[in-house]
Amino acid sequence: MTIQHPANYTPFFKIGQSGRGKSRTSEIHCEGVALEAIAARVGTPAYVYSRASIEQAYRRLDRAFGSLPHTLCYAMKANSNLSVLRILERLGSSFDIVSGGELDRLGRLGISGRCIVFSGVGKSREEIREALRYRGARHHSQGIFLFNVESAEEMEVLDEEARRHVARGGVRPGVSMRVNPDVLAGGHRHIATGARQHKFGVAWEEARRIYLQHRDSPAIAWRGISAHIGSQILSVEPFRRALLRLASWARELRADGINLECIDIGGGLGIRYQNESGIDAAQYARTLARIVKPLKCRLLVEPGRAIVGPAGVLLTRVRYVKETRGKRFVIVDAAMNDLIRPALYDGRHPITKAGDDSLPGGRLRTADVVGPVCETGDFLARDLRLEEVRAGDLLVVWAAGAYGFVESSNYNARPRAAEILVEGSRFRVVRRRETRAEMVRGEI
Ligand code: LLP
Repeated sequence: MTIQHPANYTPFFKIGQSGRGKSRTSEIHCEGVALEAIAARVGTPAYVYSRASIEQAYRRLDRAFGSLPHTLCYAMKANSNLSVLRILERLGSSFDIVSGGELDRLGRLGISGRCIVFSGVGKSREEIREALRYRGARHHSQGIFLFNVESAEEMEVLDEEARRHVARGGVRPGVSMRVNPDVLAGGHRHIATGARQHKFGVAWEEARRIYLQHRDSPAIAWRGISAHIGSQILSVEPFRRALLRLASWARELRADGINLECIDIGGGLGIRYQNESGIDAAQYARTLARIVKPLKCRLLVEPGRAIVGPAGVLLTRVRYVKETRGKRFVIVDAAMNDLIRPALYDGRHPITKAGDDSLPGGRLRTADVVGPVCETGDFLARDLRLEEVRAGDLLVVWAAGAYGFVESSNYNARPRAAEILVEGSRFRVVRRRETRAEMVRGEI
């Protein structure tokens, strides 16, 4: 099997030429910038994102739905860097949030509440209150577009808070129940969410009871029905099955006098990490549109990974190479605290060299790429076929734009990495590398 170089299939990354004459070398570029130039300036580990790639992924998916009334609610848990959010806002994206912290980020950008959907299985009363009162700085709209409610008890809290809010002259919030469609999908057992054994959503019978109970509520307005079945899903079929269920439930509710304006299928579109083919946006959209169109509802989708995953890489430098009992370890300066996907979800990110002999066809050797953290689980890749590398070489960990930086931590008292945004031939640091002083701030 020939392994394709990720630069050949990752949009806006390529193997480019730098220098002139004899000093001419080939190296990996993100848009118009050599990755080595970024690492030389800001150090490693560093996350690098391509603005053009984010824009293309968003636009492709958006266009794929054509004339179907639809809203893309970017699941900002995948990457919530303020500059990334700003790019998506400019494209007209809405946002799926799961915490008050995420709401706060949107508030700082002045993003309109009309563009915000609040999901999550354990929203606190305080978070619900914040969302009811939300005001984007540059907009006057009050509250958010939609609460996706995940339990009867959460509904009680929302109802109480909404009553108080409405009594004070506030707007009735739009609400939808997150229903568990009992469809099993998703790339790893930690990221499948849509089956009956998962903590997410409520069973249809219970959801229906809650809908009817609040049908004539003065405090809340039923706006939709929602599901999210999992993440890194590589086939359209589970989405189709889940959406068919949602659609039939929406019809049942209509017969009961509850007319929903939206139907929310969640996120979960898978991307290419190794040789899998990611979901084809056109086929996905066509399949969903066929189901939603007759309902005359707006379709909401909550993609995270598919928008930002391929747009980002993690840069790391080789510190040492060691061979023991026939096993080769490449020890790099990034670790599980920077990218936990390999340890937590068995995530397999391709890793290549950034410079020179990274051209396809070079000699490959099997190695584990590991970090400096004191845990056996601290690896970026195991039994990887990697080019010949030496201390000081720059490595590229591919498809790391989603669930990379956001899941990073200070484990082993390691500061979190810098984040860089590339725009054409320029790049800027959109989050400085954390300092040691910042790490101890707040401790006594
Ligand atoms: N909507 C809801 C309600 C979600 O829970 C999620 C992801 C999404 C949308 C976005 O899913 P996406 O389109 O990104 O697949 N950290 C794991 C993935 C966790 C996904 C959690 N929920 C990973 O790195 O694979």
